[in-house]
Amino acid sequence: MDYKNLQAEIKDDVAIVTLNREKALNALDAELISELHDFFTTHWMKRDFRCVIITGAGKAFAAGADIDELSKLDVAGAVRTAAIGQYLMKTIENFPCPVIAAINGFALGGGCELAMACDIRLASEKAKLGQPEINLGIIPGYGGTQRLARLVGRGKAKQLIFTGDMIDAAEAHRIGLVDEVYPPEELINKAMEMAKKIIAKSKPSVIAAKELINRGLDVNLSSGVEFEKRAFGTIFGGKDAVEGLKAFMEKRPANFKHK
Ligand code: CAA
Repeated sequence: MDYKNLQAEIKDDVAIVTLNREKALNALDAELISELHDFFTTHWMKRDFRCVIITGAGKAFAAGADIDELSKLDVAGAVRTAAIGQYLMKTIENFPCPVIAAINGFALGGGCELAMACDIRLASEKAKLGQPEINLGIIPGYGGTQRLARLVGRGKAKQLIFTGDMIDAAEAHRIGLVDEVYPPEELINKAMEMAKKIIAKSKPSVIAAKELINRGLDVNLSSGVEFEKRAFGTIFGGKDAVEGLKAFMEKRPANFKHK
């Protein structure tokens, strides 16, 4: 795992991925996007951990796409840049284990879009979030217009995207953009605590729940519950369902084998 702008460490079945381009507030340039792609595709195959935490070094989670690079794009280049960024966000969103964003500081533009592609967002009290692209005469390009509206509703999404305003962690929590807020020094430990709590559950159930919630948000309710019915049946074919239900009846903790 030798990356220039990314640190990745696997500890107790949890991968901690740190964006480490501090001099540019972890702005997502082509190289950093490519390193993130490499990390997530390599480990999609390896499956050598069961939860991922993404965070940033220094005072930013990520301050957006790299504006210096954006300033050199023509129309075709902009479409390609959006396509590559969106593909990364989709890869993270569909990654076959939970991905937690530990938002330590600025999460703006592409940085906020990266956080929104994660399953759960935990923020430091110092975090600042927003989609300030409008101030640059552009719009979000890594899924922000779509995921923000799904997370906070169309009115708040429009307000944030039209004004380009930055909001603090408390406001982001209030509108549902982040799920929990912690003092800065507790953020990573809290993220780790949550990761450990999740990986103690049955892995196939966690993955099925993730897939169902994601797929369900793209289809109507009847199709979503239809997917759920089938997945519910599939889960009953696994050893963990037998063990979990039996353990409850026997009044003892379940010993999941993640099968
Ligand atoms: N791209 C490239 N470099 C960036 C950057 C970005 N998104 N954000 C910050 N930097 C660089 C700055 O240019 C500066 O570099 P130098 O020291 O070489 O001058 C360094 O990071 C530190 O930044 P500041 O001096 O500006 O730090 P600050 O604390 O005064 O301000 C900030 C912090 C409010 C986050 C400010 O840096 C800022 O507004 N950054 C831009 C945020 C933004 O507009 N993001 C959206 C990008 S477009 C996008 O993301 C499109 C998309 O959806 C795909």
